[in-house]
Amino acid sequence: MSSEIQLFGIFGYPVIHTMSPYMHNEVFEQMNLPYFYTAFEVLPQNLAKSIESIRVLGLKGVNITIPHKEAVLQYLDEIIPSARFIGAVNTIKNEDGKLIGYNTDGLGFITAIREDLSIDPAEKSFLLLGAGGAARAIAIQLALEKCRKIYIANRTLSKAENIAYIIKKNVPLCEANPVLFNPAEISRIIKDVDILVNTTSVGMKKDDSKLLDSEFLSSLYAVIDIIYNPPETLLLKEASRKGLKTANGLGMLTFQGALAFEIWTGIKPPVNIMRNAIIKQLKKTDT
Ligand code: ATR
Repeated sequence: MSSEIQLFGIFGYPVIHTMSPYMHNEVFEQMNLPYFYTAFEVLPQNLAKSIESIRVLGLKGVNITIPHKEAVLQYLDEIIPSARFIGAVNTIKNEDGKLIGYNTDGLGFITAIREDLSIDPAEKSFLLLGAGGAARAIAIQLALEKCRKIYIANRTLSKAENIAYIIKKNVPLCEANPVLFNPAEISRIIKDVDILVNTTSVGMKKDDSKLLDSEFLSSLYAVIDIIYNPPETLLLKEASRKGLKTANGLGMLTFQGALAFEIWTGIKPPVNIMRNAIIKQLKKTDT
């Protein structure tokens, strides 16, 4: 490889299904940039050495994915405040050996709803289903964007309580309410919700049971499912049938990548090229 070529990558385990190399390399190629992006399978016990290799080998930037997003914080030189609140990093920039951690997942979600659905989160009320890593990034970024209220519904209440606690501590103006994910609780709060977001994995598999009774959707403005494969989950189908605004997770995936690209290169990438690269790759893997 020529020394002029700058290397980027993603560290994860497993990393085989990642779409990131396709979206970044497509833009590098179309913009004639001497950059290359590749996936590295990094076992948990090798994370520290792998992060050190960013400095040693001079990688310009790296994405971090499951299961390393939380563990990686301890190895970085600087972490931007929103990533620190979220407690997870998905993007590292190498500034002459200084490793800076960012989280573009939450902002990727916000940018996607702004660009694709023309939704401004300010003053809106959100209900997030699930309280895993994706929910945490989205909820905290929504709070930072001054949304009015966030309900976090989860089977395991303690995880929802933990996200609400982080928001109360860091963004006290946003009301964050943990709730148990069951029909009685959803029925109690749903009239106070504008936008529903599914962050659970329910809907990925064909035989997955129904996440939510469709009667709960009637009073909503929009439904977003962060699942992108399949492109239309049962939840999104039912929301569309009711005439609500809907979006799948393709926008969030694309914009988290576009934001990382901008952090690394200072260039705003052509987002549609990135999105189309993912769609093309998904079609290939489906056949
Ligand atoms: P990620 O980090 O990608 O967000 P995760 O940490 O595995 O994923 O989180 C998955 C979320 O989906 C969790 O909140 C999980 O609920 P629990 O915390 O109670 O396990 C939720 N989830 C998974 N399967 C579910 C189901 N069948 N019904 C409701 N929630 C479910």
